[in-house]
Amino acid sequence: MDAAADLKALEARLLTEIDNAATLAALDDVRIAALGKKGSVSELMAGIGKVPPEEKKAYGATVNTIKTRVSDALAARKAVLDSAAVDARLATERADVTLPVRLGPLSEGRIHPVSQVFEEVVEIFADMGFAVAEGPDIETDDLNFTRLNIPPEHPARQDHDTFYLNQTGDGARMLLRTHTSPVQIRTMMSQKPPIRIIAPGRVYRIDSDATHTPMFHQIEALVIDEATHMGHLKWVLEEFCKAFFEVDDVKMRFRASHFPFTEPSMEVDIDAAAIGKPGRWLEILGAGMVHPNVIRNCGLDPEKYQGFAFGMGLDRITMLKYGIPDLRDMFSADLRWMKHYGFLPLDIPTISGGAAG
Ligand code: PHE
Repeated sequence: MDAAADLKALEARLLTEIDNAATLAALDDVRIAALGKKGSVSELMAGIGKVPPEEKKAYGATVNTIKTRVSDALAARKAVLDSAAVDARLATERADVTLPVRLGPLSEGRIHPVSQVFEEVVEIFADMGFAVAEGPDIETDDLNFTRLNIPPEHPARQDHDTFYLNQTGDGARMLLRTHTSPVQIRTMMSQKPPIRIIAPGRVYRIDSDATHTPMFHQIEALVIDEATHMGHLKWVLEEFCKAFFEVDDVKMRFRASHFPFTEPSMEVDIDAAAIGKPGRWLEILGAGMVHPNVIRNCGLDPEKYQGFAFGMGLDRITMLKYGIPDLRDMFSADLRWMKHYGFLPLDIPTISGGAAG
């Protein structure tokens, strides 16, 4: 065999070995045996010194061609083996995301009933076109009271059992908001009507017994437009109660009441039949038509704009819906209580899927 035939034979052998390499490791062995420092192709390159001068050019070109073909074949084979390896992993590591969560540490966690109800309520109002608005827990006296038509010295301030913070340098007196109504003010001061928001959040009052805790949760709603009236308020509340308590019909009672920031004002009761206990009225929220003074205090024209607002106790409707007897237990961070009343993290409330856990 002459030298050229030897080279052809070597190339053919290497290409066959590459084709036959069944694993990435085997392929790498072939690569090292051919192109590694002491590999067969590398040694051919090194041997060019012994080739007679007139043959050097042709020899070099041939060896280079072999090197290129071998490299290309290695790369092509590697691509095939790589994708086979990915396919194999996909086959063995396939995860069926529709299966339930495996029992284990991850299944220990629970969603607090108040968080669950918070999500349910947001979902129901979102479906009616309400956006979620937020305000800070630490509020100014101005937003929590004055602009809500509760000026300094107004007796309604006494009813709120307010936690005041220490006076700051510039004399502004901050407090822990006693209700979510300051979010009404924040919204009207920053947004042009039509306005349609709900504002869920924590509120604080100096109060503590079986039905009162110093911190609790409210959901505020505010709708302001040019012709919004009490019929709209009634419809929204009815639709909300039906969706929330998952019943076809809810009997409601509007009792005349007084809030400085609404006129007229009312307290709203629902027939406890909604929670399977007919024959009793349950108070669930305070509501009314936003007082013209409040609209004016936010820089809007009360001759042009009007609307309604309501504030609902989130903890209260949580207790009603899920049969939780004592408000204080809600915030006791007792894991046994959470195991009993809490929700599984994947139990996400949707209108279509039903809100109940
Ligand atoms: N802010 C009132 C409260 O905390 C509830 C309320 C809100 C009443 C909006 C009327 C309108 O008692």
